[in-house]
Amino acid sequence: NSGSLWGGRFATGPSPELVALSRSTHFDWRLAHHDLAGSRAHARVLHAAGLLDDSELDGLLGGLDELDRRVASGELLPQPGDEDVHGALEGALLEVVGPELGGKLRAGRSRNDQIATLFKVFLRDHARLVAGHVLDLAEAIADQAERHLGAVMPGRTHLQHAQPVLLSHHLLAHAWPLARDVARLRDWDARVAPESPYGSGALAGSSLGLDPEAVAHELGFTGSVANSIDGTAARDFVAELAFVLAMVGVDVSRQAEEIIVWATREFAFVTLDDGYSTGSSIMPQKKNPDIAELARGKSGRLIGNLAGLLATLKALPLAYNRDLQEDKEPVFDSVDTLEVLLPAFTGQVATLRFDTERMAELAPQGFSLATDVAEWLVREGVPFREAHELSGACVRRCEQLGIGLEDLTDEQYAAIDPRLTPGVRAVLTVEGSVSSRDGRGGTAPVRVAEQLAELRAVLAEH
Ligand code: ARG
Repeated sequence: NSGSLWGGRFATGPSPELVALSRSTHFDWRLAHHDLAGSRAHARVLHAAGLLDDSELDGLLGGLDELDRRVASGELLPQPGDEDVHGALEGALLEVVGPELGGKLRAGRSRNDQIATLFKVFLRDHARLVAGHVLDLAEAIADQAERHLGAVMPGRTHLQHAQPVLLSHHLLAHAWPLARDVARLRDWDARVAPESPYGSGALAGSSLGLDPEAVAHELGFTGSVANSIDGTAARDFVAELAFVLAMVGVDVSRQAEEIIVWATREFAFVTLDDGYSTGSSIMPQKKNPDIAELARGKSGRLIGNLAGLLATLKALPLAYNRDLQEDKEPVFDSVDTLEVLLPAFTGQVATLRFDTERMAELAPQGFSLATDVAEWLVREGVPFREAHELSGACVRRCEQLGIGLEDLTDEQYAAIDPRLTPGVRAVLTVEGSVSSRDGRGGTAPVRVAEQLAELRAVLAEH
């Protein structure tokens, strides 16, 4: 068929089973637009090398534009006999500009350098898109933090009450990893930008005097690969992006888990907006955090995509091997997953309603001010080891009496140790506790306000 890119040395055509196995158009057709852009750039370097005359170049460019139009409108689709996007488009080009002219375009390039290049261009576009979605989520978190700047909550370690913190401080702790994820996406792009693989040919480079740098610049790269074998065989750029996408998923899953827990009757820290929660087909009262659960679930899938890619690449000899065709579906899936998940997750976060009264009520429970007692003693000159013991003794006494640290009388404190004077009461409030943690990075309101401004500045840079 017209879409076949090989055949001369074969007595028969491929068996139907091979065709079925080999076909990749069902997933690589999404690269058609990028393939055509690569072909336009390639036609120009063939022309610059004297291999196409002016009218041939015009004819090819016109034909490629026409194909682009047909691809965009959905008129042009791969045929059942097409092996991949490259063959399908060459077949269509032959029909549009005729076999004589159309047959000139493939000179000096291979599907091996083509696919490596197009895949990079495609992933660069989508890495930018995902970065935008991640920034939107980070901003939604920052907005919630700003709306609740002074509210307190129980801070936890080991999921146990640890020390009171500001709700805004906790929320922002979810935004910083996202800011780093966006930075990772930018770093990744900076590594990919100088290395366009076009011009590598099948593996050894081109003998036709083509200028890989010209193609690179036309496709938005800053340069072309220094090694044609590396250019066609390397897929670390795919694995690295899959890692960053998996990391985004994992970071989001940690927020998701908290939203799920916070929305339970036991916690009751948040209420989900009706537009961002789901019901049950049998239990009329249900309101479920499905977005958060899907986020948690899909992070597993993103990890799987990364693990699968690395397994495909492991021990693969140089240069191109057909195994490399398995690189696309996993990372397409990662990109698609995040492009659907992130906007929904952002909407859910932006519309969360916090029960700040309940959070404030729970903040001092579980003896979460015990560290403040110990640190107050340190400021009174008591060595921390001893202060820790004394504060622990206060907790033990409270447990015996079934009361909180703030309920012990001055006499009861003095009975534990005379250095526990009434002055200790100054730190026995949640507000006093959070305000006292005023070193850089701490949860004191002044610091969190600064932190919010710092985060906004980092987000604005991206
Ligand atoms: N479809 C292939 C891929 O996705 C590119 C074609 C290379 N095929 C070949 N037989 N050299 O990697």
